[in-house]
Amino acid sequence: MDPSALFGTGPYAGYAYAYPHKTAYRALELALALEDVWAGEDTSSLFLYAHVPFCFQRCSFCNLFTTVRGAPERQERYLQQLARQATRVREVLPDARFVTGAVGGGTPTWLDEGGLDRVFDVLGHTMGAPLGSMPLSVECSPETVTPGKADLLVRRGTTRASLGVQSFVDSEARAMGRTQRGMTVQTALEALRASRVPTLNIDLIYGLAGQTPATWVDSLTAALEWRPEEIFLYPLFVRPLTGLDRRGHDAPDDRLELYRIGRDLLVSCGYEQTSMRMFRAPWAPVVHTPYKCQADGMVGLGPGARSYTRRVHHATRFAVGGGAVLDELDAWLDRDDPTRVDWGFVLDLDERARRYLLQGLLQAEGLDTVAFAEAFGDVRERFPQLGGLVEHGLAEELPGRLRLTAEGLAWSDAIGPWLYSDAVKARMDAWELR
Ligand SMILES: C[S@@+](CC[C@H](N)C(=O)[O-])C[C@H]1O[C@@H](n2cnc3c(N)ncnc32)[C@H](O)[C@@H]1O
Ligand code: SF4
Repeated sequence: MDPSALFGTGPYAGYAYAYPHKTAYRALELALALEDVWAGEDTSSLFLYAHVPFCFQRCSFCNLFTTVRGAPERQERYLQQLARQATRVREVLPDARFVTGAVGGGTPTWLDEGGLDRVFDVLGHTMGAPLGSMPLSVECSPETVTPGKADLLVRRGTTRASLGVQSFVDSEARAMGRTQRGMTVQTALEALRASRVPTLNIDLIYGLAGQTPATWVDSLTAALEWRPEEIFLYPLFVRPLTGLDRRGHDAPDDRLELYRIGRDLLVSCGYEQTSMRMFRAPWAPVVHTPYKCQADGMVGLGPGARSYTRRVHHATRFAVGGGAVLDELDAWLDRDDPTRVDWGFVLDLDERARRYLLQGLLQAEGLDTVAFAEAFGDVRERFPQLGGLVEHGLAEELPGRLRLTAEGLAWSDAIGPWLYSDAVKARMDAWELR
């Protein structure tokens, strides 16, 4: 049976990487003090995230919170405000223990070595994160990685460097507004490999303009030559207000075919599929962290960073267009108190249960139904529509586990949005694009 009959959409309705999506956030009725947001929360195993909102270029597919207008003065103010925010947050959470972290963006490696060092100082010294003895991931783009920066990342405790290559075919990269050339990508990968970062991840996108099954295999093969510990395969989404959207570009309908080609090739090379997007090599180091994304909180620093406790998710306002991103960034730079919580989403029990369900179900190992039941009651009773997944052969019930089948994983981006609450869907639909 065609799964689109169940979902009312094709396989690519939306990427449920965080629930609720930031377009469902709104002004909080009462601005909350950070103290109140964290009152009663377990802060013994938190995720620490820092957002660097600058890039060398604005890629035409990208809707992340970033700007190309990072003049030295704005960059300096950003680094100062990040340090101020961290100092205040640490005062509120003096006992918080961070067990894992990430620096994302934007492009953290857009900063020069001095700027990167200051971000690591904020994480390690100001926030007290044990850099060097916890997993720490940093996002990089090809033009911005130098041997000096790659070495610095590792010296300061980076355990995973993620390089957004997207395509190893120059013409495909150019068509999405990326200036990189094959040589740039090679130089960046050489620098990251020479730095001996324990985990190298390569991001690739399928569904690009001009991409064919043959050129997709070329990109996959080129990535495999680096023996990366992880590879992420992203289906192209044409998101509102991005360059592709403004040019009226439609995402192609051969993505499912390209997905299968990519998955089968990586699995045949020994990679383990851990979600629709993520593949891990057998030689990838095993990462030990007590952090459980369903239960533990995140402290986000920087504009565009999301923070969450069990009950409150918050961030600065979502923006995509160049002007709106700059307005939001400059407003954050001007804030007297960069810890004020005035924009977000308060999760009731039902929303918490949905989040837990999504985070478990969309992983290849599936949802731990016993743990779910302890927190929220029986999952099939709470979400009777899950029966539809089983009937359509998209999920299977195993003892203590509800797990997507191979076909279910392929349809992850339809299953995620299908499980959003009506309230979240209504807010996302009503979001005014900016
Ligand atoms: C934080 S981003 C970018 C990292 C880095 N700044 C770079 O571009 O090289 C992480 C990944 O999300 C993926 N991505 C972002 N927007 C996408 C879209 N509209 N469609 C598909 N994949 C997307 C890209 O593969 C990207 O590398
Ligand atoms: S894909 Fe990466 S480099 Fe391109 S605009 Fe987005 S964050 Fe910046």
